[in-house]
Amino acid sequence: MSDEQKQNHNWAANQQRLWDDLMALGELTEPGIPYTRRSFSEMFLKGRDYLTKRFEEAGLDTFVDENGNLIGRLEGTDPERGTLMIGSHSDTVPGGGRFDGVAGVVAGLEVARALKDAGIRLKHNLEIVDCLAEEMSEYGLSCIGTRGMTGQLKPEMLDYKGPNEESLRDAITRMGGKPDAIKQESRKDIKGYLELHIEQGKVLETAGLDIGVVTTIVGITRIEITVKGLPDHAGTTPMDLRKDALSGAVEIIAGIRDKAKEIAKKGEGYFVATTGEVTVEPNAANVVPSTVKLVIDSRAQTRVLMEEFLAFINDVMPNLATAQGVEVSEVKILSDSLHSECDDDLSDLVKDMSDQLGLTSMRMTSGAGHDAAFFSRIAPTAMVFVPCKDGRSHCPEEWSEPEQIAAGTAVVFETLCKMDAR
Ligand code: GLV
Ligand code: MN
Ligand code: MN
Repeated sequence: MSDEQKQNHNWAANQQRLWDDLMALGELTEPGIPYTRRSFSEMFLKGRDYLTKRFEEAGLDTFVDENGNLIGRLEGTDPERGTLMIGSHSDTVPGGGRFDGVAGVVAGLEVARALKDAGIRLKHNLEIVDCLAEEMSEYGLSCIGTRGMTGQLKPEMLDYKGPNEESLRDAITRMGGKPDAIKQESRKDIKGYLELHIEQGKVLETAGLDIGVVTTIVGITRIEITVKGLPDHAGTTPMDLRKDALSGAVEIIAGIRDKAKEIAKKGEGYFVATTGEVTVEPNAANVVPSTVKLVIDSRAQTRVLMEEFLAFINDVMPNLATAQGVEVSEVKILSDSLHSECDDDLSDLVKDMSDQLGLTSMRMTSGAGHDAAFFSRIAPTAMVFVPCKDGRSHCPEEWSEPEQIAAGTAVVFETLCKMDAR
């Protein structure tokens, strides 16, 4: 983007209004852990109150659907054509940022306002959606709202337990959803989905480009592994007589890291695996650890790579614990989503609209998961990435410039108008 463009652009999106909303939502954070608004928390509901007010001011009919998604809707002049959706998520990871997810929701809101300002009424219905719990939640599941809306939230998932043994079913109810009304089939009226998101990597910034047009979104498989040992006195139990569950877990964590490196090195596609959650019981300095739960987040560009990793988890991983005198008592696949592809035609349109606005762009894959991955299975879907500083994300330093977000929003606006005219 040239300096001239930064100063004097004539985009439909109102950069200052968009930015003010982003910064105001950033203020709604758990005190002492900026910028945290975990799904299902009181702070999350405060964020939703803020969004509800802005949606209503924009003239949107605003409600929470049965899945717990916050939706702002504007009926089209020809509602039979179906619904075009713009969305993302307003929840964050712990200590996360002010842009991941929420930039896409605010971009959708700004598109709705810009349409109103320009006196444009779409033929399609327009829905701006804040999808519930895109980030991995305390209930062992991510993308809960989008799974629900697209018929991919299985009934047994509603029984997953979170803090204080609350079921996901009850947590969705707390968010204003109606879990008993969640269907096992997708909404049929959705004719297209657009999502703006910060890139969360360094590719665009390094290349000096304004816009990324996403091709593939990696598949994500999350696995919970329970390692069982024996709680014993840490002072009186000799080293060769103890069953230390954490010793077994350490070997598993290292084995997973090495296997992931091996798969990634093959050069057959993107692959990563992370042990990001470790729970130790009883978690006391003078007791030998008796139970360890690990949650593994593994991501692959192709199913073949994921299958190789899952074979390792089944066939080799348990032996790493046995070698330490403890055992893997349970391996639970929490979720297993295939990689997904954005729609080629719609992505071409995004690219054309970027060109038309004088913005530079490139195609790219996404190593992060997105709500778009679930929509891509039921409707033409495209994602608009904008650069973020030093590629940092899922951390408080996450940052994009106002004009970068506004540029991406302008691309979404122009693409939406063209989709409506098709
Ligand atoms: C979402 O941020 C994810 O990729 O985990
Ligand atoms: Mn995220
Ligand atoms: Mn996100």
